[in-house]
Amino acid sequence: MSNFEISDSEFKRFSDLVYQKTGINLHYGKKQLLQSRVNKVLRKRGILSYKDYFTLIVNDNTENELHEFINLISTNVTHFFREERHFEFMRDVWAKEILAKGTKTVDIWSAACSSGEEPYSIAITLKELFGDTQIVSSILASDISTKVLNLAQKAIYPKERIDNINKELIKKYFQEGTKSAQGYIKVKDDIKRMINYKRINLIEAFDNINSFDIIFCRNVMIYFDLPTKEMIVNKLYEHVKPGGYIFVGHSESLNGLNSKFKYVMPATYKKE
Ligand SMILES: C[S@@+](CC[C@H](N)C(=O)[O-])C[C@H]1O[C@@H](n2cnc3c(N)ncnc32)[C@H](O)[C@@H]1O
Repeated sequence: MSNFEISDSEFKRFSDLVYQKTGINLHYGKKQLLQSRVNKVLRKRGILSYKDYFTLIVNDNTENELHEFINLISTNVTHFFREERHFEFMRDVWAKEILAKGTKTVDIWSAACSSGEEPYSIAITLKELFGDTQIVSSILASDISTKVLNLAQKAIYPKERIDNINKELIKKYFQEGTKSAQGYIKVKDDIKRMINYKRINLIEAFDNINSFDIIFCRNVMIYFDLPTKEMIVNKLYEHVKPGGYIFVGHSESLNGLNSKFKYVMPATYKKE
């Protein structure tokens, strides 16, 4: 079967659906990307047109087709200890505040966790900071994409993904694969046990979500328009403990949003 070319009106139908279901703003420049990703599905499944695929997605009451489609279009680039300044801030500023307050439990939410590198970096940081104390830490790791959540839960990565981590931390927190798993590393179980995984769509209501000392909401807001960003940030505000923080990506900011968070440093805001 040859490649299909998506028309402007078909692209608009798909991008409207993406916006409505995920908040992601797929602008016209993403047309080729959408076309090539959807083409692969059409070819693989023998679906004859974009129209047929669209109908399949919107008519599926289980929403499995929709989830698969979201897996297809979401951008999941991430790496361990990405944007290190946040981890330095946790160590140099936040941990001291927690210890000074005598806090007994800390809760952190990685709200667009992709394949898990972010929550595992958080868990390792917490172990290093509080491992020898009575403080109990837990992490919620969520994403809209079921595909990346499955990867996160497996916690197995090609070895080169940890090239930027210092050798001592690798020894403590990762296990090297042998035999058929040669070339892969696995996050150790005591780190994995600190994390709960959940599919959460940031544009939908947050059910049964507690409050957190820090919410990492990094490198996802870049895909949202201003009203969507503002709506999400204000919802997240309600789930940050007083004195807690929200971290956004270093190319993102809360500038221009009507929000109660107070600026601390680039990409870092506090709930007072
Ligand atoms: C580029 S990754 C960022 C991963 C990580 N936070 C980091 O900074 O490395 C963006 C993630 O946002 C997720 N995402 C996109 N729209 C979302 C939504 N509406 N709700 C929750 N997650 C979403 C994507 O599935 C993807 O895994």
